[in-house]
Amino acid sequence: MKINKSRLLEMLHDLEDFTDTPGNGVTRFSFGVQDATAREYILEKAVDAGCTVDIDALQNIRIGLKSNVPGKSIVMAGSHIDTVRHGGWLDGIYGVCGALEVMLTLAEYVDAANSGDKSVMPIDQLKNNYEMVIFSEEEGSNFGSTMTGSKFVTGFYKEEDLGKLRDTNGKTLRQRLIELPIKDDEDEDSLDVYSMDYFDSGEILWDFDEIKSMLELHIEQGPVLDKEGLSIGIVDAIYGMRVVEVTLTGVGNHAGATPMGIRYDALCTAAECVLATEEIVKSDDDERIVATIGKLSVSPDCSNVIPQEVKFTVEVRDKDEDKINEYMDRIIERIRQLADARQVTCEITEHSKSSPLYLTKSLKDDMEKLAIKKNLAYKVMDSGAVHDACMIANFVDTGMIFVPSINGRSHVPEEDTKEEDLIAGVQFLMDTVLNEMKTEV
Ligand code: GLV
Ligand code: MN
Ligand code: MN
Repeated sequence: MKINKSRLLEMLHDLEDFTDTPGNGVTRFSFGVQDATAREYILEKAVDAGCTVDIDALQNIRIGLKSNVPGKSIVMAGSHIDTVRHGGWLDGIYGVCGALEVMLTLAEYVDAANSGDKSVMPIDQLKNNYEMVIFSEEEGSNFGSTMTGSKFVTGFYKEEDLGKLRDTNGKTLRQRLIELPIKDDEDEDSLDVYSMDYFDSGEILWDFDEIKSMLELHIEQGPVLDKEGLSIGIVDAIYGMRVVEVTLTGVGNHAGATPMGIRYDALCTAAECVLATEEIVKSDDDERIVATIGKLSVSPDCSNVIPQEVKFTVEVRDKDEDKINEYMDRIIERIRQLADARQVTCEITEHSKSSPLYLTKSLKDDMEKLAIKKNLAYKVMDSGAVHDACMIANFVDTGMIFVPSINGRSHVPEEDTKEEDLIAGVQFLMDTVLNEMKTEV
């Protein structure tokens, strides 16, 4: 069964325009207007193809093929559509468009079978139901915690976390969800994607007994496939991560009148912490553990005031959880020492974490066999980035497919992948879905 290449590319290019920062990368945070517009675009295509739609209170969307029947287990594919600030055009939404392209191709098959086309097998040859999923708030751009939607459907996050997760304006996730614009039936222009029409019973936890497997297609976001000239990656392990928040409090004072010897500058302390963090992880022999301080705020943020308070996050990622903890503990200890030495107060709180994990072996083996059969240039590899698949893999068979990122760039406007690789990735997803359904069409 062949996907429709031009439909796929058209969807991706249309959705690229749904950004708050035109000309400077894609900025599409969950629960914002661009997110709503992208959802509307995708839902319209799905509804036109006769699909069923369910949206939970977190705004995770599940879309079902029209021929699905109760009782058959579900083969699922999907990813996220939110982005980081000034991110790329493919992270997340490529896997969603891929899953949608598979859905539309299957829907055409179902239509042909329904209309008595003798060249296709009857619909009951599809041994499983097919669904696609769009997880909300994967990047954590609003609330600073990655994989938020999939953490709720798996019960990793619970009801009380709705009140704990706060955006940069201090608003809780619960408040943001309550304030989502609901469709105004009187107003033709109103966005109907946060509509109560689609709103499920409010049940967020998934019943994993009804799901056979989950597949996530994604760009690699690193240099490996591009460098090696390969078109497909089959993901073996996904790195885990631990994030802490650090608040350094010094003494704010006049920038001109306060001599250098009697300052308690929170930003100078933070600068030492940033470099110490880099030095600590760089000392590791296998050179694959990573640490990043990517978010930092200075208060009062005035050129003529000595910084009184600096807040920053530290995240550490690796394939080995003990190693993540060992290095993070060393970083924390060093930050405390550096703050003490400058008589700056230091408060450190745990923010979020996810464990490293291996994706399902039998699925990886099947995907490898399929890649060989299809004569694809592939490799089995790890993912340094986290994905919603990490959460789902704790419950059902889960696999991930990567395509190359040109020059290994991602989370930046330059993020890109060759057209032929984008197409090959979605075709491989299609073939894997059919393989999972044990259906040869
Ligand atoms: C998600 O993109 C992550 O790995 O941070
Ligand atoms: Mn992603
Ligand atoms: Mn991302």
